[in-house]
Amino acid sequence: MQTFTQLSEMRAAAARWRASGTLAVVPTMGALHAGHLSLVEAAKARADRVVAWIFVNPKQFDNPEDLVNYPNHMAADTAKLAAAGVDALYAPALDQVYPEGFATKVSVTGLTDMLCGAHRPGHFDGVATVVTKIFTQTQADFAMFGEKDYQQLQVVKRLVTDLNLPIEIVPCATVREEDGLALSSRNERLAPKDRAIAPALNAAMRRAASRMQAGEAPGPVLARAVQEIEAAGYRSVEYLELRAADGLTLMPTLDRPARLFAAAHLGPVRLIDNIAVGPA
Ligand code: PAF
Repeated sequence: MQTFTQLSEMRAAAARWRASGTLAVVPTMGALHAGHLSLVEAAKARADRVVAWIFVNPKQFDNPEDLVNYPNHMAADTAKLAAAGVDALYAPALDQVYPEGFATKVSVTGLTDMLCGAHRPGHFDGVATVVTKIFTQTQADFAMFGEKDYQQLQVVKRLVTDLNLPIEIVPCATVREEDGLALSSRNERLAPKDRAIAPALNAAMRRAASRMQAGEAPGPVLARAVQEIEAAGYRSVEYLELRAADGLTLMPTLDRPARLFAAAHLGPVRLIDNIAVGPA
């Protein structure tokens, strides 16, 4: 596996590889877990060459404490990617992504007004800006994104359509622990007692989904699920909302394919999750 920190190295490799085949990028902020490695597997199945991107993007952290506490495991990540068989790790230096005087912002409207966008000001502008750079820097034909960040996936698809970026976005299913907890780099910050409570979020979401699919109205079902999550030991539920799978509009009744979205605080950690909810 080759390792690059400079855009010129990335560009030279991309030119070489794309002369004879396709290239997929797996965008990450490091602290790799089995969810990221499932993106690598999907990338290997889709393209001739695979590059993993690791960059903790300061522009997408609305909370400075979250940025400081974000895990950094570069040595372990490098070993995992080499074992997984990626062709290159591109971990750009800060100035390769944001050169001095950087003054451009990519901003997707509408889809970013709700859910995480409403609670994390500037977050999706930071994501859209860096994702545009991931695509232009790597020149990849495919980019793998986890459904764990379903809103991010929708924002990225919109961005690619609107800016005619020559890349195909490949969605990949959320990977979970056996007890239902969605894998996240933030899970490692959970104290043991909070780790035991954590699966209550997904469990309450699945119960709520079954109730709605059985015909109960979303409003009272979601209110009860919030109580269940907080009773299990979560500090607070930031949002628990049923939205259209396509377009993310709020759904007062379950009359088309939907997703149930949640963000909740457990100790010092903010966790998110989402699941598909089909109409009966
Ligand atoms: O999903 C992530 O880890 C990040 O938002 C991404 C896409 C790598 C951009 O920094």
